[in-house]
Amino acid sequence: MLFDELQNMKNKALQSIESAVDKKSLGEIKGEVFGKNGALASLSKGMRDVAPEDRPKVGALINEVRNVLEAKLAQKEEEMARKELEERLNSEKIDITEPAKNCERGALHPIAGVIDRLTDICVNLGFSVVEGPEVESDYYNFEAMNIPKNHPSRDMQDTFFINDNILLRSQTSAVQAREMEVRKPPFKIVCPGKTYRNDSDSTHSPVFHQMEGLVIDENVSMADLKSMLTIMMKRLYGDDTEIRFRPSFFPFTEPSIEVDVSCPTCHGKGCSLCKGTGMLELLGAGIVNPKVLEMSGIDSKKYRGFAFGFGLDRTAMILNSIGNIRYLYRNDIRFLNQMK
Ligand code: PHE
Repeated sequence: MLFDELQNMKNKALQSIESAVDKKSLGEIKGEVFGKNGALASLSKGMRDVAPEDRPKVGALINEVRNVLEAKLAQKEEEMARKELEERLNSEKIDITEPAKNCERGALHPIAGVIDRLTDICVNLGFSVVEGPEVESDYYNFEAMNIPKNHPSRDMQDTFFINDNILLRSQTSAVQAREMEVRKPPFKIVCPGKTYRNDSDSTHSPVFHQMEGLVIDENVSMADLKSMLTIMMKRLYGDDTEIRFRPSFFPFTEPSIEVDVSCPTCHGKGCSLCKGTGMLELLGAGIVNPKVLEMSGIDSKKYRGFAFGFGLDRTAMILNSIGNIRYLYRNDIRFLNQMK
């Protein structure tokens, strides 16, 4: 009797394990067979009524049923786990041959790009980067730069005045005076920023950008200025760049120079960018006028300085072959897209 019941239970359990559809029903079957009050346990209790001579046989069967069912359960569990993994892999499959979604890449505005490049070059040469206000006092923009009120040299820069004493700075040189008042020499600073002049044509915009550099130390000379500018220009435009220094005039430097570089487009042969001259005018520079040092509280007997001022718009135009300065300020996305 018990013998048959065990066989029956085994066959039924094997069948239901086989046809179980998910982990949950498999778990239920497991409980029904192996649980505390499960089929195997209750059938084992029947051992008490089995004749002693039959007990080894029945005992062996109970063990066999347990082993067979356990093996079957384990096999089914493994099968289900494998199927589940397979389904998950299939549903999460990525087609790596599918073309990538178009990811738009932005670009720096050419002026921001030039500021980044030039400040990098200067920081490498030991300069600190500083900024100053765009709405500036007449004092810092002009007077402290040795350009007194009503002096003819003011006409070099057609300035936007807000009132008699406040203006939109016409040159980043204004930052020189501010920094000389607060810094202790020796120091090296560059100041990139917006500047304003009442000027507008294909190479002049009422708002434009300059970068002023100032070095104050005990023994600086024209030779230091020349070698530093040569290094900067070569790093910016390439090692084969030729540099030319011409005498010039600025009220705040004495002597003053203007610096030209060989045209990076035609390498000095002459093209439309350099108007056939092979050279491009790039910046003004010079040895800081001792009057300027004294006005800002620096002892001109002990210290000397040199300064230079770049036009950044022009630099951006040269580096990116931009023919008209207005493109820089129109924010036309088609133009900006070409800067990538
Ligand atoms: N500030 C001058 C300008 O705007 C350029 C300059 C700067 C010249 C520093 C000499 C030294 O024209």
